[in-house]
Amino acid sequence: MRLSTPLLLLLSPLLAHAYRMKDVPADTSKRVRISLPVHLPEEAYDNPVDLEAARQARFQLSGFESPRDPTQITRAVIQLHGLARDAWWYFDLTTQALERATRRKNRTDGQNLLTEQQVMIFAPFFLNDQDNGATPNNRTLQWHGSQWAYGADTRAPATFLDAQGLSHPAPGVSSFEAVDAAVQHYSNKTRFPNIQSIVVAGHSLGAQMVQRYALIGAVPSRDVPVHFVIANPSSYAYLDSTRPNSTEACSSTYDAWKFGLGSYTQRYLSSFMSESLDSSKDVEDVRRRYTRERKVHYLYGLADHEVGDNRCEAFAQGDTHLMRGQLYMQHLDHILAGEQGSHTVDYVPNVAHEPLKMFISAAGLRHLFTSNDAGEPTGVGYGDKARPFYPARLSGEQQVQEAQASLWRALFSAIPLPALG
Ligand SMILES: *[C@@H]1O[C@H](CO)[C@@H](O)[C@H](O)[C@H]1NC(C)=O
Ligand SMILES: *[C@@H]1O[C@H](CO)[C@@H](O)[C@H](O)[C@H]1NC(C)=O
Ligand SMILES: *[C@@H]1O[C@H](CO)[C@@H](O)[C@H](O)[C@H]1NC(C)=O
Ligand SMILES: *[C@@H]1O[C@H](CO)[C@@H](O)[C@H](O)[C@H]1NC(C)=O
Repeated sequence: MRLSTPLLLLLSPLLAHAYRMKDVPADTSKRVRISLPVHLPEEAYDNPVDLEAARQARFQLSGFESPRDPTQITRAVIQLHGLARDAWWYFDLTTQALERATRRKNRTDGQNLLTEQQVMIFAPFFLNDQDNGATPNNRTLQWHGSQWAYGADTRAPATFLDAQGLSHPAPGVSSFEAVDAAVQHYSNKTRFPNIQSIVVAGHSLGAQMVQRYALIGAVPSRDVPVHFVIANPSSYAYLDSTRPNSTEACSSTYDAWKFGLGSYTQRYLSSFMSESLDSSKDVEDVRRRYTRERKVHYLYGLADHEVGDNRCEAFAQGDTHLMRGQLYMQHLDHILAGEQGSHTVDYVPNVAHEPLKMFISAAGLRHLFTSNDAGEPTGVGYGDKARPFYPARLSGEQQVQEAQASLWRALFSAIPLPALG
């Protein structure tokens, strides 16, 4: 039976699920469960005894990694999961995309341009209150709800034991400190002597996290270049208090972190703002570093008309994932005021809120697996070789597809969509 387009559209939430089950067999031989060590934040301690114990202690960020010879690794792809905290799924999708990326051959000698053995994929878990059964041990980091996506401190562990078995209070650990630990781990040239680049990537809520981490994260990679891949997020941290849409119903919260830099209470963000930047122009420096120095690649599915976050703060940024992305590009243009930025944008035709299709698109494969090798260290270099960002013009055919899609959107706007972040 051939399904008609309207019927397919009606069934699309179900098909999306079927797609996921059918096309992504869980090949557990391609992944191993690991835990990376995470330091405890020392500034949280007044008591010297606890501080000394904390210096010796390590918490753990749990996740999946590719089984690889570390000496062959030239690139690490840190892929952040979405709302469902399904790190295994994101790991498998990224592995599948890598298989595509390694099919390309050198035309002169017929050798593969990239081999799987060169790329380490790491998909960490940001576990929450519902995941007690999934923590490997009592040093595994856990956050509240979805707060991990914007840098909040952990809820657990609340205590830890020192070498003598004495208990000490544990401070909260920011999810951004956990990403810092992963960046530090994969940029360590004692461990990975041939590492050339690190990518921090995410789709949906994972992409929201990447955007905020790229904005305020420490990214402690020393001289190893890092770049960021942000696919179909539901909202952004804006860089000033302007918004494309009405903020009337959320006038006191629309510019608070995570939606903007107007106010913030999180420790990582506060200490970053107060310690690492000149306090007289801190927000200006954050903006400048993000837009001119951090290498950020946005990927948007041209059919991603989902609403995702349906709160006023998100609607103030636009109506759908795609529209919010396009409007954020205009926002960056406004912030750059004619200067050259270090960001790029690619639009992927015919793809909705589907991470695999985003990753295996030409732009997805390029940014995940080949671009920026031997690039400049993050936050330092200005000369990004990638093409300057700005919304690519839609072709005539895409405009027709867009018009059709908006018709369907109007028809289906009455059907509530699941909030995918
Ligand atoms: C392709 O192979 C030739 C011959 O081995 C080599 O000189 C060239 O650098 C290769 N190109 C790439 C892009 O690896
Ligand atoms: C954590 O787990 C270890 C080993 O299972 C156990 O000895 C210890 O009492 C637990 N609790 C704390 C707070 O470390
Ligand atoms: C780098 O890795 C080596 C080997 O695992 C380790 O001994 C060293 O402490 C690491 N350095 C940093 C800064 O983490
Ligand atoms: C939000 O702004 C965009 C761009 O100006 C516009 O197309 C859209 O209709 C606006 N949405 C609402 C709900 O006002």
